Amino acid sequence: MASHFINLFFTSLLVLLFHISPSTSLTCSSQTFSANTRFTNCTDLPSLKSFLHWTFDPAKSTLSVAFLASPASPDGWVAWGINPVAPTMVGTQSFIAFKDSKGVMTVKTYNLTSYKSIAESKLMYNVLDSKAESADGVMKIFATLQLPANTKTVNQVWQVGSAVTDGMPRIHKFEPDNLKSKGILDLATSGAGGGDGDKKTNATSSSASSGQSGNETGGSSRILNTETTLFAFLLFFGVGLLQL
Ligand SMILES: *[C@@H]1O[C@H](CO)[C@@H](O)[C@H](O)[C@H]1NC(C)=O
Ligand SMILES: *[C@@H]1O[C@H](CO)[C@@H](O)[C@H](O)[C@H]1NC(C)=O
Ligand SMILES: *[C@@H]1O[C@H](CO)[C@@H](O)[C@H](O)[C@H]1NC(C)=O
Ligand SMILES: *[C@@H]1O[C@H](CO)[C@@H](O)[C@H](O)[C@H]1NC(C)=O
Repeated sequence: MASHFINLFFTSLLVLLFHISPSTSLTCSSQTFSANTRFTNCTDLPSLKSFLHWTFDPAKSTLSVAFLASPASPDGWVAWGINPVAPTMVGTQSFIAFKDSKGVMTVKTYNLTSYKSIAESKLMYNVLDSKAESADGVMKIFATLQLPANTKTVNQVWQVGSAVTDGMPRIHKFEPDNLKSKGILDLATSGAGGGDGDKKTNATSSSASSGQSGNETGGSSRILNTETTLFAFLLFFGVGLLQL
């Protein structure tokens, strides 16, 4: 009897832990961030198991992103950027995240000028903030960029690599998945009241409404998670009682 209850307790505990652990999901819509980080939109990128969460404020032309991907090896790197000319690597204004020599996640900016070598540099866009994180084999780049006024779409390019030596990300593979990792991100129908550039936008109210919708998204997925956990708990508890 007692051991039955102990078994039941640990089984339930396992189920709870399993459902609460915030691991990376297979689609961006079920990925969540810490309390004050919310994005209005997300895109499952078509290659390299990568994801982009983003909020575009058309009134200010600011784009906030979280890029998630797994480096090709634990000591590798992940990269995301915007190419002002075409969706190709050369010319991309990019962020590359990796572990520095002390093992601390860092993100640096690179104006990619060649396929062979890269050098850290400022970007043509003003970077309002950036940071990198790593957990459970997934690296995350968070950044806010100031884009030119009336931007509707951007060419985005992303990549993963397996090594960093002397603080320098090494060249990535040229497998099909590595060559497909580029595309166009359509910002025009982003939250915050759409992107009709000709309409006069009230910046104050539009940014407030984008924050609001972000909160609702986070809230409802949290409720869903709690319900799933509760259901699993009741199921196991019920099965346990039947066995007694
Ligand atoms: C990036 O590199 C290209 C080619 O060298 C150069 O023309 C451009 O001015 C650079 N941009 C920045 C922001 O440094
Ligand atoms: C971004 O999210 C908003 C609000 O959920 C939605 O109306 C809009 O269509 C989305 N934009 C894109 C490009 O997915
Ligand atoms: C913008 O919206 C806020 C809140 O609704 C309002 O107080 C403010 O007067 C508006 N500003 C303009 C320029 O319309
Ligand atoms: C979003 O939620 C946080 C706490 O969950 C709250 O402090 C904040 O005021 C909310 N923001 C909006 C715009 O509702």
